[in-house]
Amino acid sequence: MDQKFLINGGKKLKGEINISGAKNAVLKLMAAALLLDDACEIHNVPELADVQIMVEVLRSLGAKVDYDTDEKKIIIDATTLTSVEACYELVSKMRASFTVLGALLGRCKEAKVALPGGCSIGERRIDFHIKGLEALGAQIKIEGGYVIAKAKKLVGTTVYLDRPSVGATENIMIAAILAEGSTIISNAAQEPEIVDLANFLNALGGDVTGAGTSEIIINGVKQKDLHPTIYTTIPDRIEAGTYIAAIVATRGKGIIRNIFPSHLSAVISKLTDMGANINILDPFSIEISCGKIINAVNIVTQPHPGFPTDLQSPFMSVLAVAEGISVITESIYENRFRQIGELTRMGANVQQEGNRAIVKGVKSLTGAQVRASDLRAGASLLVAALCAEGTTEITDLYHIDRGYEKVMEKLSGLGADIQRVNITENDINAKLIADEIHVI
Ligand code: EPZ
Repeated sequence: MDQKFLINGGKKLKGEINISGAKNAVLKLMAAALLLDDACEIHNVPELADVQIMVEVLRSLGAKVDYDTDEKKIIIDATTLTSVEACYELVSKMRASFTVLGALLGRCKEAKVALPGGCSIGERRIDFHIKGLEALGAQIKIEGGYVIAKAKKLVGTTVYLDRPSVGATENIMIAAILAEGSTIISNAAQEPEIVDLANFLNALGGDVTGAGTSEIIINGVKQKDLHPTIYTTIPDRIEAGTYIAAIVATRGKGIIRNIFPSHLSAVISKLTDMGANINILDPFSIEISCGKIINAVNIVTQPHPGFPTDLQSPFMSVLAVAEGISVITESIYENRFRQIGELTRMGANVQQEGNRAIVKGVKSLTGAQVRASDLRAGASLLVAALCAEGTTEITDLYHIDRGYEKVMEKLSGLGADIQRVNITENDINAKLIADEIHVI
């Protein structure tokens, strides 16, 4: 049954929170596990709808997958694969499943993977993925909505990416593990999730160096060189950044545990400019607090180590209640300001001018009925609701559930007044009316 959050805002968040494993890392490790003709084990796996979709994708290819949500671990046994086709029904649910393309091509030298298509935040092209895999020797055609790739063998080469795409870097890196010779990815993505994938591939017996810099070198190994491993994925820096945003927006104080602070350097720098106090307590925890005044700051989203696009929307909610005018420039996606309409309904003063949002801070937001249009827009509404006066209802929670494990429990642990309730007949009628308004 569809559900909604009811949040009574205005309470300062206080306490401690444990961050889960990184969604955007673990999904790629799961795809990479297809390279191994044996079983491997991944730990610190969050319980998320997207992980469940990847489980289904791997099973559809013939892998045996045991996903233990209590133990937060997953065992993937890809000894026998029965298919090289990832179907549209699954890939269209979650574009991260497109990463099986590189793994299937590397292992089986053929793959048929549905094109993920665009999504609500942007066009999200895959041309760099294709270019990179072709450079390794794959013949690729696009037919009937599928990428069909075949190769007699893959041979290492240098691939330059026009922009440091996370997904393209991952697909090429995975495919190159079993290629002959060395592959260099130049202008590679440098996100912590890329480093995690490289560490996992090395733990499986691969030979990857340079991850975390703009040049990654993959020295091809033989299938027999790969071996089982037990690997623990990194913490979710975007989940951590979202809770930090919520603590700051409510002028609260909290300790964020199980994180790597260095993954959040750009965010910590902006928080300092905003007037928040950050204390690095130990290599895995930070303490954050914020007084009455939040300073306006300008933010430009950029590939890592720049400010992450995935935290742009939650931070817009913080700046909506800051002192003064902030300018947020979104440079990664064409359409990642979908939260603005809903924030405006809560009293925010935000004007969009192309890829810039001018945020004029207001004294406070007020509760309203709002809808999450995508995962991080949903996170932005959560942050706004927590600092708003009165009650906010957030619907379309499935977006938020894709990326935030036990979000209600974690926020309640910080003292938030949040409930998850079933959608009523009245809500459904209101949603139908709202849908009609959107269509017009
Ligand atoms: C990953 O998406 C993340 N998703 C995104 O997180 C994140 O926003 C993004 O990286 C940037 O950090 C996962 O890891 C599952 P890209 P990805 O390839 O790999 C263009 C979230 O909320 N591009 O770096 O798809 C593309 O259109 C999600 O958790 C091309 O033009 O990101 C986009 O504008 C959303 N051609 C930009 O590059 C290509 O071949 C960045 O895309 C590939 C990308």
